[in-house]
Order: sequence, then C-alpha cells, then structure tokens
Amino acid sequence: MRLILLGAPGAGKGTQAQFICERFKIPQISTGDMLRAAVKEGSELGLKVKEIMTSGGLVSDEIIIALVKERIAQPDCENGFLFDGFPRTIPQAEAMKDAAVKIDHVLEIAVEDEEIVKRLAGRRVHPGSGRVYHVEYNPPKEAGKDDVTGEALIQRDDDQEATVRNRLAVYHDQTAPLVDYYQQWAQQDAAAAPAYHRVEGVGSVDQITRQVIEALEG
Ligand code: AP5
Ligand code: ZN
Repeated sequence: MRLILLGAPGAGKGTQAQFICERFKIPQISTGDMLRAAVKEGSELGLKVKEIMTSGGLVSDEIIIALVKERIAQPDCENGFLFDGFPRTIPQAEAMKDAAVKIDHVLEIAVEDEEIVKRLAGRRVHPGSGRVYHVEYNPPKEAGKDDVTGEALIQRDDDQEATVRNRLAVYHDQTAPLVDYYQQWAQQDAAAAPAYHRVEGVGSVDQITRQVIEALEG
C-alpha cells in the first residue's frame, strides 16, 4: 500500500502513522523526521535546513523531492510506504505524478487550528525514533520517558506558540490546496488517482485510529 497522510501540523499524522505502518507492514517516511535527523547530525543538508525549520517555513521543493526520491528507491519501500508530511506543496505532488509513483490512498486528518495550538504546546517526542506523546492526551507510561527505550523525551524547537502559528499559516497557504488537488483528481480520473478519505481528527487517539483503518480497509 502506498499512502499519503495529509493534515496540518499537529493533526496527528505521526501518531496515526505508527499504527498504520504496523498494521500494513510498511515504512513511515516522515520528511520532518528525516530533516530533524540531518540537523542533529550536523550534515550538509542539516546545516542548510536548520534555520528554516526553526522558523516554521518550508524547505525548498528541490531538496525535499530529491530526498524522497532517494528514500523510496530503498528496498524496504518495495511493498509500499506511508508519506507523513509529504507532499506539502503542489510541485511536490506533481513531482510524484511525473515520476509515475502511483499512490493508492490519500487520507486527510482534519483538525481546527485552536486545537492544534493546544496539542503542540504539550507534545513531547523521542528524538531517536520519532515516537510522539502528549503530556495530557497521550502520556508516556513514565513521565518524561520513552515507553520503549526509557530515554528522555524532548520538546521540538518548532513547538513554540509563535512558530506554531507561522506553521499553521504556511499550511493554509501552501499545503491545504492539496486537498482540492487530490479530490479533483479523484473525481476526474478515479482509475489513476489515489482514493481520497477524510477523517475528523478530534477524539481519542484510538477512536481516530479505528476510523483511519476503516477508511483504508472498508
Ligand atoms: P513535520 O515534522 O512534518 O511537522 P508538521 O507537519 O508540522 O507536523 P507535526 O509533526 O507537527 O504534527 P503531526 O501531524 O505529526 O502530529 P503528531 O502526531 O505529532 O515538519 C517539520 C518541518 O520540517 C516543517 O515545518 C518544514 O520546515 C520541514 N518539512 C517537513 N516536510 C517538508 C516538506 N515536505 N516540504 C517542505 N518542508 C518540509 O501529534 C501532535 C500532538 O498531538 C502530539 O503531542 C500527540 O500526542 C497529540 N495528539 C495526537 N492525536 C491526538 C488526539 N486525537 N487527541 C489529542 N492529542 C493528540
Ligand atoms: Zn509529525
């Protein structure tokens, strides 16, 4: 299965990706996680993207498209993959079309902006794996520690409220047009286009997972 998870920052893409990838045995390709790993390593790519990520802006399409093409050529992507946080602009979506990368499903997770601000203020992440928690809505078994490794959880640099507001503005401007893009494509050419599903992302994590699985398997 080849799947795109579409949704605003904090909509729960990373949270739901964990369940979907386990169930369908496909790798999670999170461009955000890949870029954060590059920043942490201090690689050439990391140095290039650090500032833009901290400000909540988007990294250039050129860099992202090259990164994704290299990633999906790896052997573990042969039976499919899940894109989390990609594509984020029309040119990124067009690049997949041009490269004849056939996507089966686009799944939109819809959440209002104010809910997102609350979620991101309480988010904690395990930097090694990308596993995400929330201090109140999705707490780890032991406060401040990852459930699997017991290592310390951290706050992301871009989860400050002002940066979150900027990320939301960028989302509405650059990424939200993909909702129409994929819906129109599905209407015009159902055979070639990915199936489009929309799930309301408000409710417990489990409830949303159930809706997601139903949309994909139903
Ligand atoms: P990226 O890492 O993709 O960040 P994002 O899209 O802003 O999304 P988030 O990871 O913030 O949110 P999420 O939807 O995964 O939510 P989560 O599950 O964590 O990108 C970061 C940056 O990298 C970008 O700003 C950009 O600079 C760059 N970048 C990445 N990809 C790019 C691209 N393709 N092109 C250009 N630039 C790119 O959940 C959030 C919180 O809510 C957690 O605390 C979670 O526990 C909690 N939560 C989840 N579900 C629920 C629920 N149902 N109820 C209550 N709380 C919940
Ligand atoms: Zn994420």
